[in-house]
Formats: sequence, structure tokens, C-alpha cells
Amino acid sequence: MTKAARLLTLLRRTLLICVLFSYGLSNAMGKSPNQPAATPPAAAIASAHPAATKAGEQLLAAGGNAFDAAIAVAAALAVVEPYSSGLGGGGFWLLHLGTEERSIFVDARERAPLAARRDMYLDHDGELVPELALNGPLAAGIPGVPAALDHLAAHYARLPLSHSLAPAIALAREGFPIDAHYRRLARWRLEVLRASPAAAEQFLLAGEVPPEGHVLRQPELARTLERIAARGRDGFYSGELAEQLVAGVRAAGGIWTTEDLSDYRIIERAPIVFDFAGWTITSAPPPSAGGVGLAQMLGMLAELHLEDQDRVASVHRIVETMRRAYRDRAAFLGDPDQVEIPLARLMHPYYLAGLARDIHPTRATPSLPPSLPADLPSGLPSHVPASEGQDTTHFSILDDEGNRVAATLSINYPFGAGFVPPGTGVLLNDEMDDFAAQPGTANVYGLVGGEANAIAPGKRMLSSMSPTFAESDQGVAILGTPGGSRIITMVLNALLALSKGGTPADWVDAPRFHHQYLPDVIQHEPDAFTAEETAALAAMGHRLEPIDPKMFGNMQAVYWDRAGQRVLAASDPRGQGAASVVTSSLHLQMPDNSQQN
Ligand code: DON
Repeated sequence: MTKAARLLTLLRRTLLICVLFSYGLSNAMGKSPNQPAATPPAAAIASAHPAATKAGEQLLAAGGNAFDAAIAVAAALAVVEPYSSGLGGGGFWLLHLGTEERSIFVDARERAPLAARRDMYLDHDGELVPELALNGPLAAGIPGVPAALDHLAAHYARLPLSHSLAPAIALAREGFPIDAHYRRLARWRLEVLRASPAAAEQFLLAGEVPPEGHVLRQPELARTLERIAARGRDGFYSGELAEQLVAGVRAAGGIWTTEDLSDYRIIERAPIVFDFAGWTITSAPPPSAGGVGLAQMLGMLAELHLEDQDRVASVHRIVETMRRAYRDRAAFLGDPDQVEIPLARLMHPYYLAGLARDIHPTRATPSLPPSLPADLPSGLPSHVPASEGQDTTHFSILDDEGNRVAATLSINYPFGAGFVPPGTGVLLNDEMDDFAAQPGTANVYGLVGGEANAIAPGKRMLSSMSPTFAESDQGVAILGTPGGSRIITMVLNALLALSKGGTPADWVDAPRFHHQYLPDVIQHEPDAFTAEETAALAAMGHRLEPIDPKMFGNMQAVYWDRAGQRVLAASDPRGQGAASVVTSSLHLQMPDNSQQN
């Protein structure tokens, strides 16, 4: 045998051993070589701000898991997107534990103070005063985010809060350059921010919106984060900081007590889980309207065979399912610990088939519910401006053990209540506006609520935030978005796009349309429909209203493509976020907001 032939034989044998070894290894792990891998080939993060995505990457690089990264991302967003979320707000965290194949919903929603009353935002004539539920400390619910950070660290993360909060503490102390988006939202809330000296000091420069590029430092927020890093939830809900929060709120007309803070608890709830088009969808249960709404809309759509319809007929059917789901939202949904919600009935296939049958194939159904007064105001009170869609935040994370986080966090309106209790650095939410402050009257998102969402002491206000997973043999999607009342229909649009294939970049980019029962109008991005489609929908009896794409939120999506053995991530081009896919040896970040590996 020549030397070359010997070398070839050796190479063949080595290859054979490699193949046999990998075959044996896959069998030892309980799967054939063709079965999808049990863990993803990479980790990924998509968030609404590059500095937050970077904070999450730092935690993954330091040996943290998806939950460590989630704490770091949430805390960083609290610093760099003060108009969207923060320690003074709340939110929902949908978790999936890779090794246990188990999903958990962490409800860190704000709750009404114990002194709250159902008529607290009405004047002597019983008329709603919307500003009271939007501006200043009376508008603020008891925050849930600090308790959630502590809970994640104690139960699911690997590293202590001193590690996971470190990037946010540095960002708060050293500062970050503010961008045009910050300036636009600060300009819009300027008067409210000026009314709170501590908020003006923290977010303005000599009472004005700072110029672009100005480095915004928040030393008091850095100190509060350090307290939480050192003492966990007690650093926020008891002791000196809690007293400062309560004193500041009460001095400016609010009703918080120290008992409100010490009593606050996150609640772990079972997510809403259902099947659609071969995918298992896992989403937010009440007090979010998201999971129920998605189950209802997709349950109706399963009866309506969109695959056989043209674009106009499809949009008509999707809109009619939105209308019916938002009607049920208004009539039945609220805090599950305080109101009886007929969940099983609302999501029962027979009920949904009945709702679907009621949809006329070519005529819009007018929104005239028997259960609510016929003279419902349609839409926003004229003196309250509509908010943009990017003033709440969402991030999606996957780690290489298959752990996942979809988290949507909020302080509600841009810059929340615009109020900072002196000495705390904590900007308070105005989530109380998510209650039906006067059942039957629209809130700031034009949403009309019923008795189920009336204000009561200690009650959680109904939300639209819908962190969501979709899973099948093909892959696992992790997604969510801000966007006020449009959140649920945006997630619906994304799930419909996902069920047809494509990548996260396609789902976050898909043109959007929305109907919420009242006002009785299809809101849509200007390029969502052609002129012919608009005319055809109008001929069916639909009212259409094109709105600025910024009114829809900035979606963040991660996808583990099991079949293709790759991980992809995308941050909505409507926002300024960043998506990144991280392997242990390689880190990819591309300028167009979308990532793959
Ligand atoms: O919980 C909710 O449904 C609202 N507070 C979310 C607000 C929101 O998404 C604002 N962004 N446009």
C-alpha cells in the first residue's frame, strides 16, 4: 500500500468513527440523527434598546442564563427607556424552563392602592376627569417590577442581583446619550414632567427637553438599583426607600401607604395554552386580556378557513374576530382574583364556533352590544392626546439550554405619571388609567371596560400586554410588543404570519391593522391595504382610519428554527432596538435589526 493510499484509508476510518460516534451520541440522548436537537445552537436577545440588549449579552457572557439576562435587560431598559418601563411600573414575564419543559407566567402587574375607590377619578357631577388617572401620583398603581426582578433572581436565575443589575447601575450612574425618540416623548409630556420637581431634575435640563446626544445621568436611580441589588425586594418595598416613596406620593396628593408597598406580591399563574394551525400557543392569562383574546380570535379563525379567501375576505374575517374578542374583553375581563371570569366558556370551541358562524361573509357587524349602553362614546376624550405605540417595552430572550423569556413591561403612558417621589429616582406609572374608571367610558386607548374592570382596593387593572410563545416541531417563537390596546392584534398578526412561515424579520415587519370593537373602526398602517382593498372593505360597511406606523408598537421576536438548526432574532424596524444572536464563541450583530445564526 502506498503512503497516499494508507493516508486515505486512515481518513476513511476516522470519518466512519466520527459518524458512528455522533450516531451513538444521538441515540444515547434518545433521538435519531434526523430528530431536531433538544437545545438551541445559540442564544438570542431582541430588545427595544441597544444598551439593554448589550446588558443581556454581558450576563450571558458571564455565565448567566436567560433569566439573568432578562433581569439585566429589564433593569437597563428602566434606565435608557424611562418613557416606557421602569422600577415604578409593572409587567408580565412569560418564562419557559428548558430542562423541565415548563412555562410559567409571572404577574408583576401594578395593583390599586388599598385606599383606591371606584369613583376616585370622577368629579362632583359623576363625570370622569381623565387627567387624574394619567398625570401625577394619584394615577400610580403599586409597582411590581422590583418584586419581579427579585423573584426571578431568587428562583430561576444563576447569578445574584449584584451581578445582573450591574450594567443598569453603570448606565444610570455614567449616563447614556438621549436620542430623538426620547426628545419627542419628553416634549410631549413636558408640562407634566415640569410639574414634578424631581422628575424635571432627572429628565429635563433647566426645565427644557435636553438636546440630542446629551448624556443623561440618574444618580438617585443608580442608588435605588444598588439598594435592590443589596437587599432584594426589601430594598424597595420596605425601609427608607419605601418611606420616601410613600412620603413623596402623599405630599403631592397621592394615596399610597407603606402597607401598600409591604403587601405587594408577584403572582405566578398558569399561562393560557391552546393550539392553532399545528402550533401550541402559550400566552398571558388575566389580568391580561391577551391570551384569552388570542385564543378567541384564532379559535374563530380556525372555523373560517382563511386559506380559501382572498386578501379582502381574509381581512374582513380577521377584523370581525377582533371585534368579537374585544367585546368580550370589555364585558368579562378583569383581575381574576377579584372577579369571576367565565374563562372556560369564553375559550370553548363551541362558543367560538358560534361566534364565527355569526360573522357575515360580506357585511361588517356594527358594534352595538346588548350588554353595554348603546350611546358609548367612541374613542378618546377629545382633550386627551393619543399616545404613540412605543411607550411600553418588550424583550424576548432564548438561551442555549432552551430557557426562554418573553417580557412586556410598562409604566403605561409616555413617562408614566410624570412624577418622581423626591430622593428615589423612581418614575411612577399611570397604570390606573387601565381600569374602567367609569364603566362604559373610554380610557386613553379608547378602550371601554365594564364592571369586571372597575376600580377596587388592591385590584390589578386589566392589561393588553401579551408576551407569547409559539411552538411546534418546526421551531419555537418568542414574541411580544408594546402598543396599548393594539398589542393583542399585533401579536395576532404576527402569529398569522408565523403560521405561514417566514422569519422573525417578516413577523415584526408585517403591515398592521386593528379593530377593538369600540371605536367601530379599522385602524391600519397606511401601506397595509391598497386603494382597491380599502374601497372593498368600505363597501362591506367598515370604517377605515390610516394611522402613523409609530402608533403601533415595536415588536421584538426570537426564533429557534429547530428544523433548520439555527436561531434568528429581529427588532422591529419601527423602533430603535437591537437583536443579537450569541454563540459561545461567536457574536453576530447586524445593522438591519435582524439576526441569525
Ligand atoms: O397594560 C396595558 O395594556 C397598557 N398599560 C400598555 C400600554 C402601552 O402599551 C403603551 N404603548 N403604547
